[in-house]
Amino acid sequence: MPLLRGALDAGGAAAPLPAPHGQEPGARSGPGRRAAAGARRARARRDRDRRARVGRTRRRGHRRAGLDTGEPGWTPASRSSALESDRHHRIEGTPSSSIGAVHPPERPIFEAFPALRGRLPWVALGEWPTPVQPLAPALRAIAPHAEAWVKRDDLSSPVYGGNKVRTLEVLFAEALEAGARRVWSTGAFGTNHGTAALLHAPRVGLRAGLVLFPQPRSACAAENLRVMLAAEDAEVQLLPHWSALPGAMGWVRLRRRAERPFVMVPGGATPRGALGYVSAALELALQVAEGALPAPRKLFLGVGSTCTTAGLLLGLRLAARRGIGFLAPPEVVAVRVTPWPVTAAWRIAALARRASELLHRLSGDPRALVDEATLRAGLRVDGGELGRGYGHPTRRGREAIRRFGALEGLTLDTTYSGKAAAGMLRALRAGLREPALFWSTKSTAPLPAVGDAPPPQALARAWLAGAPRRDAAGARS
Ligand SMILES: Cc1ncc(COP(=O)(O)O)c(C=O)c1O
Repeated sequence: MPLLRGALDAGGAAAPLPAPHGQEPGARSGPGRRAAAGARRARARRDRDRRARVGRTRRRGHRRAGLDTGEPGWTPASRSSALESDRHHRIEGTPSSSIGAVHPPERPIFEAFPALRGRLPWVALGEWPTPVQPLAPALRAIAPHAEAWVKRDDLSSPVYGGNKVRTLEVLFAEALEAGARRVWSTGAFGTNHGTAALLHAPRVGLRAGLVLFPQPRSACAAENLRVMLAAEDAEVQLLPHWSALPGAMGWVRLRRRAERPFVMVPGGATPRGALGYVSAALELALQVAEGALPAPRKLFLGVGSTCTTAGLLLGLRLAARRGIGFLAPPEVVAVRVTPWPVTAAWRIAALARRASELLHRLSGDPRALVDEATLRAGLRVDGGELGRGYGHPTRRGREAIRRFGALEGLTLDTTYSGKAAAGMLRALRAGLREPALFWSTKSTAPLPAVGDAPPPQALARAWLAGAPRRDAAGARS
C-alpha cells in the first residue's frame, strides 16, 4: 500500500498515478505491451497467492481468538485484553500503545486528503486492507466463466469483524473527542453494529450502551443478542417496538448525561460514519491498481441503514476521479435488506453528498465535492431479495449462503449478506459477464462463549426461547 502513496498525493495531477486497471505506463503497443501484460499477470498471480496466505493466517488468528475467550461471565474488556496479546490482532504499522488515541492511523483517506490529518479524528480498530479473493469456488455450478471476486471485510477484526468496524473507527474517535465515556448503539435485537460497538469500545477506553428493539428471529441475531445481554459492564435497554426508539434515545441523553453519552443512530448512518467506507473504497481502488484483482464493473452489497453504501458510492467516485484503480467507478448494486423509504436511492445519494460536503469542509479540497446526481448515477438499488422484510430469511438467500460457503471461512447470514449474495447470483444467472465484486460485510470472527442461561429480562427471554440455532454443521438459519 505505501508504494502507492504517490498516487494518492494531494498534488493529484502532479503525482505519479498508478495506471488504471488494464493500462501499463509506457507499454501501450507492440512487444512492450506483451511484456508488460506478462509482468502484470505474474504480479497478479503473486498477489493472489500472498493474499490467500494472509487469509489463512487470519483465519488461524480468528480461531485462536475464539479459544482464548470461552469462559462465561466475560467482560468486553477482558476479551479485548486477551486478544490484544494475539499478534494477529495488532494493527499493522500502528504501535499497540497508540490504540485508543485519537489520531489518524494509516488509512487511504488521509493519503488522498492529507489536510484531514489533525482535523478528522480516527481510531485504529481493524486490520486493513482486508483481503480480496476469487469467488470461483462458489460459482462453479452456475457461472463457471464469471470473473467474480469477494472483498473479505468479514475478516476486518478478530475481535468482531464486518463492515461496522470501519464506521466505528470514525464514530468512536468523534465520541472520544466529545469527551464521552459511554457510546450507545441503537438497533434491532441482533444488531451487528451494536455487537461490534460493544466488543470494540473497551479497546479505546469507552463503555458500551445498547438500545434494542425486537426483529424476526434468526440464529445470528440470537447469538449477538446473547453476547450483548451477557456483557457485564454494558448497559442494555430493551424496547417492545422500534417506534419507541426516538423517545429512548432522548431518555438516554437526558438521564445518562453525567456519563456524557454518545448516542449513535442505527447503523451509525451519519456523514462522518460514512467516511469509514470512503476510505474502504480507496483501499479497494489501490488493490485494483496493485493488480490484486481486476477492476470490478459492479459491486454488490446489502443496504440497511445506508451508511456503508453511501460511503462506498462517494469513495469509488473519488478514486475514479484521480484515476486510481479505475477511470469509471464500478456501479454499486445495493441489495435492499430494509424496505423503502429507508433504503431509497435518493436517501443513499443524499447521505453520500453530505459526506462529500463534510470531507470538503474538513480538508478544504474542492475535489472532495460530488453532486447528488453524479452519485446517484453510480447506484442501483435492488429490491428483489427483501422477501417479507427486514430479518425474514428467504429461499434464495439460503441458497446463496450454501454456495458462498464453498469459500473457506466465509459464512454469510440470512439478514444481510445472504440476501446481497442472492442479488449477485441472480445477476450472474441473468448473464452478467463483467468483473463483479461481492463485499462481504458479516463478521466471521468467533463470538465470546456466553452459555445458554436465560437472561433476566422477560422480553429477551421470550424472544430467545423461540429463536433457531445453528445446525450441527455450523450453518445458521
Ligand atoms: C452484516 C451487515 N451487512 C450489511 C449491513 C448494511 O450496512 P448499512 O447499515 O451501512 O447499510 C449491515 C448493517 O448493520 C450489516 O450488519
